[in-house]
Amino acid sequence: MKYTKIPNTDLEVSSIALGTWAMGNDFWGTVDDNESIRAIEASIDSGVNFIDTAPAYGAGHAETVVAKAIEGKRDKVIVATKAGVIRTETEYLRDLSPKNIKKDIEESLKRLKTDCIDLYYIHWPDVNTPLEESINALLKHKQQGKFRYLAVSNFSIELIEQAQQMTDIVCLQPNYSMLNRKIENDIMPFCEKKLMGIISYGTLAGGLLTGKFRELPKFEKGDNRGRFYDYYREDIWSSIQGLLSLLDGIAEKHSSTVAQIAIAWTIQQKGVTSVLVGAKNEKQAIANAGAANVLLSTDDCLAIYAYLKNHLQEVIY
Ligand SMILES: NC(=O)c1ccc[n+]([C@@H]2O[C@H](COP(=O)([O-])OP(=O)(O)OC[C@H]3O[C@@H](n4cnc5c(N)ncnc54)[C@H](OP(=O)(O)O)[C@@H]3O)[C@@H](O)[C@H]2O)c1
Repeated sequence: MKYTKIPNTDLEVSSIALGTWAMGNDFWGTVDDNESIRAIEASIDSGVNFIDTAPAYGAGHAETVVAKAIEGKRDKVIVATKAGVIRTETEYLRDLSPKNIKKDIEESLKRLKTDCIDLYYIHWPDVNTPLEESINALLKHKQQGKFRYLAVSNFSIELIEQAQQMTDIVCLQPNYSMLNRKIENDIMPFCEKKLMGIISYGTLAGGLLTGKFRELPKFEKGDNRGRFYDYYREDIWSSIQGLLSLLDGIAEKHSSTVAQIAIAWTIQQKGVTSVLVGAKNEKQAIANAGAANVLLSTDDCLAIYAYLKNHLQEVIY
């Protein structure tokens, strides 16, 4: 495993971070808590020291599971969680009002059984609350020692700049993978210029870039990943299968798996500090952490780039 400092912090994070959305046991089908705990433990044993969660993941359930798994090893992990998305029975509601931020942070601290969160994100922008009000509220909690560093997720350059006029924003968490390269033209160079880290999510496009779906899957009831990751559709399916065939060949050459190639590719992109990968069990967690040992050659990267450009250009940009 490799470790990199998030610029302007003392957080030295593993290049592979563990995502816990599915561990909320909500939105991704049924996920067993004990399997989730073993996945977290296996990730830590494999060198992952960076865990990403949010109150929105199972309305706090993922944070509770994380706390159980890291009990007694809090000092070994960098815990990131988020503010501003409320999970109701049916939807995700954005709320960055000072009142909801206070509720989010106090409940996260309790569920995570910690005094201080290492990295605290604004989860999504909220058009109903002026950003200034939200940042002022967050800074009050920071001064009280409830979190160490502030970050944002799913923000545009304009919004990041607005936030940066008030305080340091140490990193951005955007959607970024082989199938979503929208940030490359503007956001990535912007973050580089501003010395901000990039902690990308969606690395496996919800499992698609593991190569395990060779036919359009019918997900079980309660597994809604196709609503978030919009790749599970007829019109682009054959192009995605072509990409997976290419990745099969590259994986064979590296004695690795398609998932490891997708993870390694993302880590190798300039400006990426750490890549989030979700796992539902120990086996997935160990395999994903193993991607840290895969180094793609320039030829591998050029072949992937050429395929994406020729067959998936409209999807990825
Ligand atoms: N800030 C945001 O708005 C935002 C949005 C999305 C995600 N995130 C964060 O990023 C994390 C990662 O993204 P994600 O969880 O959405 O998706 P992802 O990492 O693209 O996909 C994770 C899913 O792929 C499957 N998988 C993982 N490893 C595998 C392996 N080795 N072999 C086979 N299947 C494997 C698992 O589901 P199955 O086994 O069921 O296929 C797993 O739940 C999240 O957990 C969350 O922490 C943040």
